[in-house]
Amino acid sequence: MAGPEPITPGRLLSALQWRYATQRFDPSRPIPAAAWSAILESLRLAPSGFGLQPWRIVSVESPALRRALSAASWNQPQVLEAPRLLVLCRRDRVESLDVERLIALARGQRAISDEEAARWRAGLASFVESGAATDQWAARQVYLALGVLVAAAAVLGVDACPLEGIDPPAYDRELGLAGTGYQTVVAVALGYRAAGDPAATADKLRFPEAEVFTRA
Ligand SMILES: Cc1cc2nc3c(=O)[nH]c(=O)nc-3n(C[C@H](O)[C@H](O)[C@H](O)COP(=O)(O)O)c2cc1C
Repeated sequence: MAGPEPITPGRLLSALQWRYATQRFDPSRPIPAAAWSAILESLRLAPSGFGLQPWRIVSVESPALRRALSAASWNQPQVLEAPRLLVLCRRDRVESLDVERLIALARGQRAISDEEAARWRAGLASFVESGAATDQWAARQVYLALGVLVAAAAVLGVDACPLEGIDPPAYDRELGLAGTGYQTVVAVALGYRAAGDPAATADKLRFPEAEVFTRA
């Protein structure tokens, strides 16, 4: 299958330069439906270890819930002002159930022999049973999806701010996550910058190339 028409390096870099962790959003400017769908799909398409997708994404629609979450986010203004707020949650414990769910999905979509499925099951089971599939592991996959989301939003000209300055247990309570098998990792506010957000014009603070890249 032919790949997509690549965007130019210049366009990619200008989107990544343009984006910043938006502090003040314009609450009156919603994200168009097509862009919003693409942003959500970018999360669903994000890679994850073994393809296990140990996450669940909550889109916060209720104004009352927004207010409660604002109090659980040190009153950071993005939580109330951004037209969209997502909460990225991790699987609290990756277990054989998750492996079976993925294998069932694969068998529904791909021609997989019983032997291949058994090999796959054994490989994933040894990963899960080794204790490597921890809550920390699941959180790392969620952060990776966050990175995909932030880049996708920038390319679409949509502003975003990842929010780790939140109280995850309070989020879990407000979102009713107890017993669901998922826990809050990070929130993301999305929309468009308000005119006059001082952070929009601040220089990017990035260490120089020589301090970031090493040849080995
Ligand atoms: C995981 C993560 C959590 C963050 N949490 C917050 C936050 O709670 N509030 C905030 O204003 N910015 C937050 N940020 C934004 C960072 O401060 C920002 O990305 C960094 O200073 C670099 O600036 P830039 O994104 O504007 O280029 C977070 C960023 C990341 C990646």
